[in-house]
Amino acid sequence: MKVTVTGIQPTGSLHLGNYLGMIQPALALAEQYEALYFIADYHALTSMRSGKDIRDLTYEVAATWLALGLDPARSILYRQSDVPEVTELAWILDCVTSKGLMNRAHAYKAAVAENRQHDRDPDTGVNLGLYTYPVLMAADILFPGAHVVPVGLDQRQHIEIAQDIAEAFNASYGSVLTLPEALIDERVMTIPGIDGRKMSKSYGNASPILKPTEVLRKAVMRIKTDSRRPEEPKDPETDVIFQLFRHIAPPAAVDSMAERYRSGRVSYAETKQELFQTLNVRFAVPRERYQQTVADRQAIDGILKDGAERVRAIGTPILSRVRTAIGVGG
Ligand code: TRP
Repeated sequence: MKVTVTGIQPTGSLHLGNYLGMIQPALALAEQYEALYFIADYHALTSMRSGKDIRDLTYEVAATWLALGLDPARSILYRQSDVPEVTELAWILDCVTSKGLMNRAHAYKAAVAENRQHDRDPDTGVNLGLYTYPVLMAADILFPGAHVVPVGLDQRQHIEIAQDIAEAFNASYGSVLTLPEALIDERVMTIPGIDGRKMSKSYGNASPILKPTEVLRKAVMRIKTDSRRPEEPKDPETDVIFQLFRHIAPPAAVDSMAERYRSGRVSYAETKQELFQTLNVRFAVPRERYQQTVADRQAIDGILKDGAERVRAIGTPILSRVRTAIGVGG
């Protein structure tokens, strides 16, 4: 059976954009693949100092996967730091990765650009973990020999880097590592947040689908719109409410909303209400499951430990082949 793997950093609560862009397509792969999902807590260490926050968010992310349909009897859910073999592989990969490849990585380039803009030294605030983030990510993917990696559009470059690193290793040591492929859901692409920018954990503009109803309602009501009155025609393509609605509502409801927008027969207040109702119903069951799951850390620990053992069983033979190929060690 082919392997798929994907990870999420525990750096914030997950939202509709994460669900549509990555979690939902990733969970669908469990039908045809040995499906691996993990929480990238060592990646979070590149941007967070509080271990407690990382731990708390790790439980949140684990509970999110479980609430949204991950079946731990069938798929594997684990915590990155429970599998130190991954970081061992990351070091070996460091040694076949050219520094220039890291210089070109988007996240690092963005940090440098930001520093330049503020007339600071280009590497201010850049730790080596952030700089080599893509190598650890390559190790996450190459350790279990993943063929397919479902990710959001923003992660495309990271998967290309993982391919480059696997090729560099294989060119030096023989064909040991499987070349992974990104799976990006083109239909979803970028989900707008309530302020119209890309929905992101770090922008505070998310639709919090698993939070209590009131929190969700408030977020939807805060969606930014233009000031068109109900009877004015509106363009659904540029409206955030519609852009979110179209991904979760049945086609007939989507067509109806688009039509009422175009013909100036609906207010933003009404479409917000429709969006809220639809989200609220769609995520009612996961929300309840989430509340129960996140409260039971012992149960989550059990699932994560079991997952770590199972991913190790898959990855250890691959790491052994890597060690043999480099010929270092006893
Ligand atoms: N970089 C990814 C993100 O921020 C998280 C991640 C870490 C990941 N390791 C991974 C995703 C391996 C897929 C495969 O979204």
